[in-house]
Amino acid sequence: MTKALEGVRILDFTHVQSGPTCTQLLAWFGADVIKVERPGSGDITRGQLRDVPDADSLYFTMLNHNKRSITLDTKNPKGMEVLWEMVKICDVLVENFAPGVLDRMGLTWKKLHEVNPRLIVASVKGFGPGPYEDCKVYENVAQCAGGAASTTGFRDQVPLVTGAQIGDSGTGLHLALGIVTALYHRTHSGLGQKVDCAMQDGVLNLCRVKLRDQQRLAHGPLKEYSQFGEGVPFGDAVPRAGNDSGGGQPGRILKCKGWETDPNAYIYFITQAPVWEAICDVIGEPGWKTDPNYATPPARLPRLNEIFGRIEQWTMTKTKFEAMDQLNKYDIPCGPILSMKEIAEEKSLRETGTVVEVDHPKRGKYLSVGNPIKLSNSPTEVKRSPLLGEHTEEILRDVLKLDESRIAAITESGATGAQPRVAAE
Ligand code: COA
Repeated sequence: MTKALEGVRILDFTHVQSGPTCTQLLAWFGADVIKVERPGSGDITRGQLRDVPDADSLYFTMLNHNKRSITLDTKNPKGMEVLWEMVKICDVLVENFAPGVLDRMGLTWKKLHEVNPRLIVASVKGFGPGPYEDCKVYENVAQCAGGAASTTGFRDQVPLVTGAQIGDSGTGLHLALGIVTALYHRTHSGLGQKVDCAMQDGVLNLCRVKLRDQQRLAHGPLKEYSQFGEGVPFGDAVPRAGNDSGGGQPGRILKCKGWETDPNAYIYFITQAPVWEAICDVIGEPGWKTDPNYATPPARLPRLNEIFGRIEQWTMTKTKFEAMDQLNKYDIPCGPILSMKEIAEEKSLRETGTVVEVDHPKRGKYLSVGNPIKLSNSPTEVKRSPLLGEHTEEILRDVLKLDESRIAAITESGATGAQPRVAAE
């Protein structure tokens, strides 16, 4: 079975998280992803947050599956020569260097397009054109600048960043979509184009409903926010809504059996209007079905604290899984707060390949998140990340088709970081 992106070759000039997320997805779909790394050190994440001495970190291995690695010093003229050879035979160049780095390397869009008009050049930067365009940006900076932090957390507490890497991995996802779209466009235009994703924009795209609420504020209070029911006036910007649900149906995180000792013994519970009667029956308050103080969504808004308090009395008598089982019988929307431990051990996620066990020659077996996008005719097989420079020779010889004397000259120059071969006696 051929893979969806088989035949597509990617010059992967990415590092850290945002770019590697993108190229890993493309590799999972079958593209030949060749990661270009600095000799000696490689992607900085290889050595970050190391848990096993001398082995590539999980940070690196979990973001660079199914890729090949070539080491090239782009500050060495021979290294740049090889890079230009790669530009000629690749379909896509993906990078997430700081603003200006690519130009300083001489890899301007104009020159790249001249050398290979079919090349798609895809970039992640922190910000698009504007006051911050020259800034270096990391995950939490993007979460703050993209509107996530100001709308996450509790109203009377500091803004919060989320554990989901919406700035890095989120932007990598956006970039991957841009790349496959440009590849499709190229099938009829014959030309490559630039694909730019700014992390601020990616985060804002994921915070779309909050910009919706910002505009609704001009027409009155946001009634589904708990603060409305509590009589707390709104300011001129969307407030943090705690654990309120974003879709207009009141929702909260409630304690379950064992919450005193288990920090994740909680369930998300939505009092969705169409199942209100079922909720009343389940929690043992059948009178609320007809009581005018509780029977309609507007009547419930000022009483949400009392209502969720009563529901919590019920959830506290059940584990989160027992509560799920009962509530699902009535289609009452709810979700267990799953710990990473529980997710790692979940059998069904292993069966679908969403959580995979990968073997690595230096670190042994580890768990990773597999491809969350399932294609019926292009299933993903997760293969371990490459060791630094593992495929340097193979790429020079088999992909770039350089002859032995040229490879020897490149090696001699130090451009790949490899030791020149000692001539046989
Ligand atoms: N050989 C030699 N030099 C290399 C090289 C190679 N193979 N690959 C990169 N370099 C050099 C570059 O030429 C550049 O040097 P220069 O500044 O002298 O021109 C430098 O390494 C790359 O630097 P930079 O991208 O600035 O790295 P950094 O560690 O200082 O910054 C980020 C890291 C992530 C902040 C920055 O890359 C960035 O803002 N990226 C865009 C946004 C982004 O993706 N952020 C999230 C990351 S998850």
